[in-house]
Amino acid sequence: MSDDGVNVGRRRFLTAATSVVGGAGAVGVAVPFVKSWNPSARAKAAGAPVKYNVGKLEPGQMVTVEWRGKPVYVVRRSEEALENLVKVEPQLRDPMSEESNQPPYVDPENRAIKPQLLVMVGLCTHLGCAPMYRPEVGAADLGGADWLGGFFCPCHGSKYDLAGRVYKGVPAPTNMDIPPYSYDSDDVIVIGVDQEGSA
Ligand code: FES
Repeated sequence: MSDDGVNVGRRRFLTAATSVVGGAGAVGVAVPFVKSWNPSARAKAAGAPVKYNVGKLEPGQMVTVEWRGKPVYVVRRSEEALENLVKVEPQLRDPMSEESNQPPYVDPENRAIKPQLLVMVGLCTHLGCAPMYRPEVGAADLGGADWLGGFFCPCHGSKYDLAGRVYKGVPAPTNMDIPPYSYDSDDVIVIGVDQEGSA
C-alpha cells in the first residue's frame, strides 16, 4: 500500500516537472529577446522599483536587471570607454540625446547620473530586440577601427555606443531609453525611482 502511495507520488512529481520544462520552452520561443529570462521573475514585473548593488561590478562588466518586465542593462564603464564616448560622436545620429528618452537629471552626453555607471533599458528602439553588449574596441564585424565599443542589435543591425546612443544609417530611430533611477547609497541603485530633487 505504502509503496503504491510512493509510486503515485513520484509519477505526479515527474509529470509536474515535465510540464514545467515544456512551459518554459514555450515561453522562450514566444519571447526571444528574453531567452535568458526566468519566467518566475514575472512576479516582479508589476511595477515595483528594483534595487541593485553595483559594488561588485568590475570596469567593463555588464549585468541585466529586470524592471517592469524589461531588461535593464547596468554597465560599469572604464575610463577608456568614457573617453571613447567623445571620440565616437561624429558617427552618431543624436549625440546630445535631444530626441531621445531619458530623465532630465542624467547627463545628455554620457546619459548617466555618475558617468562610470550606465543604467539603460536594453531594448532596441527599432522593433524592441535586446541588443548585444559588444565592448571590444575595433571589433572586425562591427566596423573595425571605427567601432569604439557599444551595443549591436542582431535583428536588423542597429548599432549604439556605450551610452546607448544610436549610430547614423541604421534602422533604429533614437537612442535607447534611460529609465528613472536614483542612488540609495554609493553602491545601490534604485530603478524606477527618480533622483530626489528632480522635476
Ligand atoms: S529591432 Fe534592433 S535593429 Fe530592428
